[in-house]
Amino acid sequence: MGPLESASDSMAELDALEAEGVKAFHSAANADELETARIAFLGQKQGRVKSAQERIKTIPSDAKKAYGQRFNAVRGALENAWEDGKKRFDKPAAIIQGLDVTLPGRAPRLGHLHPLTQTATELIDLFGRFGFSVARGPEVEDVFHNFDALNIPDSHPARDPLDNFYLPGGFMLRSQTSTVQIRVMEKQPPPVRVIAIGRVYRPDTVDATHSFMFHQIEGLMVDRKVTMADLKTVLRLFAQSYLGEDVKIRFRPSFFPFTEPSVEVDMQWHGGDRWVEMGGAGMVDPNVFRAVGYDPDKYSGFAFGLGIERLCMRRHGIDDIRLLYKNDTRFLEQF
Ligand code: PHE
Repeated sequence: MGPLESASDSMAELDALEAEGVKAFHSAANADELETARIAFLGQKQGRVKSAQERIKTIPSDAKKAYGQRFNAVRGALENAWEDGKKRFDKPAAIIQGLDVTLPGRAPRLGHLHPLTQTATELIDLFGRFGFSVARGPEVEDVFHNFDALNIPDSHPARDPLDNFYLPGGFMLRSQTSTVQIRVMEKQPPPVRVIAIGRVYRPDTVDATHSFMFHQIEGLMVDRKVTMADLKTVLRLFAQSYLGEDVKIRFRPSFFPFTEPSVEVDMQWHGGDRWVEMGGAGMVDPNVFRAVGYDPDKYSGFAFGLGIERLCMRRHGIDDIRLLYKNDTRFLEQF
């Protein structure tokens, strides 16, 4: 542009500047593009508005006034267009108004394992240290594994339909994890040292220490010369490790068709004089060995079956078994 340029050309330039500038500000898709347009048009050093302003020196004096007025209008229009663009991209900041980034964060709530699952995991760990590995069996069991193979005669009251959940076709919901003893011995020769953990079902009336479904841990050890002393030692060591050195347990003579002799094992309940049954145990009956093809003259063994809920309750001071099944997070969060 030189001094020779005509006044009408200069006015046309101002029109073009206005049109291009407004378009650039309106079409900016984000704050960065808007800033690029601002520098190109309104920039203090080399912006096109600045050059148009400087050009006024070259305008013939009779056209200067008109040029100046038109220039002011164009500059105003571009500044407005830029302000409009700024408002568009300022919006997010308006939305997070009131956000105080200096406040401490809110930690996400993490879930954790149910106390019974935690107990089962600890028991597996503890008995693992005594050399017991984990075995499994089905919850829907056949009557043979739940009763016959365990030396429980047809006439035995434990088979009473009122005490069991029978299913069609010779099946039932297992009433004890002793079924897994049989399943393990059917499959492997001695020596055996296993535990089995799982649900068992009995139509008991529900109260603070009973439920129609609960969990048992079954233990079975078979080898040459396993004795009752081994059984008592393992159970005592277990109780002391899981419930604490000072826990008191006692063995009462009892009867189970699949062990001889048999005992019931009690633990002292939450301090006090009350004893609560922890489970049953005994020396594997020779008839059970015969049913699975083990030689009772060569091998002996012990078995035990303990209630996991009661162990968990005794350990944590829980006084009602029903709390373990309610899934009330106010309870569960304490473990
Ligand atoms: N199965 C027995 C019960 O549920 C407990 C038990 C297991 C007793 C192993 C002796 C040996 O009552």
